[in-house]
Amino acid sequence: MSETVEIFEMGPRDGLQNEKRLIPASDKIALVDLLSQAGFRRIEVTSFVSPRWVPQMADAAQVMAGIARVPGVSYAVLTPNMKGYQGAKAARASEIAIFASASEGFSKANLNATIAESLERFVPVAQAARDDGMPVRGYVSVVTDCPFDGPTPPANVARVAAALRDMGCYEISLGDTIGQGRPETIDAMLSAVLDEIPATRLAGHYHDTSGRALQNIDASLARGVRVFDAAVGGLGGCPYAPGAKGNVATEKVAGHLAARGFAHGLDMQVIDKAAAMARAMREGEDD
Ligand code: HMG
Ligand code: MG
Repeated sequence: MSETVEIFEMGPRDGLQNEKRLIPASDKIALVDLLSQAGFRRIEVTSFVSPRWVPQMADAAQVMAGIARVPGVSYAVLTPNMKGYQGAKAARASEIAIFASASEGFSKANLNATIAESLERFVPVAQAARDDGMPVRGYVSVVTDCPFDGPTPPANVARVAAALRDMGCYEISLGDTIGQGRPETIDAMLSAVLDEIPATRLAGHYHDTSGRALQNIDASLARGVRVFDAAVGGLGGCPYAPGAKGNVATEKVAGHLAARGFAHGLDMQVIDKAAAMARAMREGEDD
């Protein structure tokens, strides 16, 4: 039996949040419904964030109301604050994610808050989720490089990851938000984080801006990480990270894992259809 590596599908959220053309909710729903047939255990559907900050996610409630939920699939959403949590709960999200930064520059740009302020803001969100029995995932962004502050010290990543763990996050996803990580910097970052958190509670979230995401995944596999975030069609980016390109493509990660002898449990015919659908959504876009 080959060892399993899980791909957490990000396409509808991280893939589409950066699109300038407003994509109809019905198209997003169709994409999620197709992805629900692909064998994912977890799909990140949307974000309950300020529509002034991320207009593309303004239809979060409509998308969540329209999807056909498949038993056994967890439908995740991002929540930056209590207002977002209330939206997520009303929309019957299966789980939420809170998202912090390892650098002050990115924290300010993404959340309009210092790292400390953002962590304070997440405490009541995590508490409310715990009271409601809602699982909480945590993200740390810019884990190797920040577009504003330059290289990120690994100790800063470990500190923020530990704070999210202490709030009850069941898993911490480590984001190379602008895809500037290299196997050496990813390894040094993981070495620091692993002093705080075991590999079984970590995920790699690597953008493929420089075409090194698969190498960074290999460096993480060597450290024992077995969950990777990816987006069908390799779409996306982060509106508050200049130069951030898409998450590494799901189909690319799945092919790579299979070639390395890992099982991922995904139906590649469905993935290919979903990747084509995702790419069609951004036709006419200029980067
Ligand atoms: P702020 O402007 O400081 O917030 O933004 P505020 O509390 O002053 O509120 C401003 C307005 O937004 C108010 O409306 C609020 O009601 C509204 P107004 O009175 O002016 O009409 N508002 C909300 N509306 C809906 N849902 C909400 C919400 N909160 C406030 N939840 C805030 C602070 C955190 C809200 C803002 O900065 C924000 O929404 N940021 C999110 C940015 C974002 O979504 N970034 C992309 C996701 S992170 C990412 O992509 C990285 C990741 O992929 C990992 C990686 O790659 O590294 C996860
Ligand atoms: Mg991302």
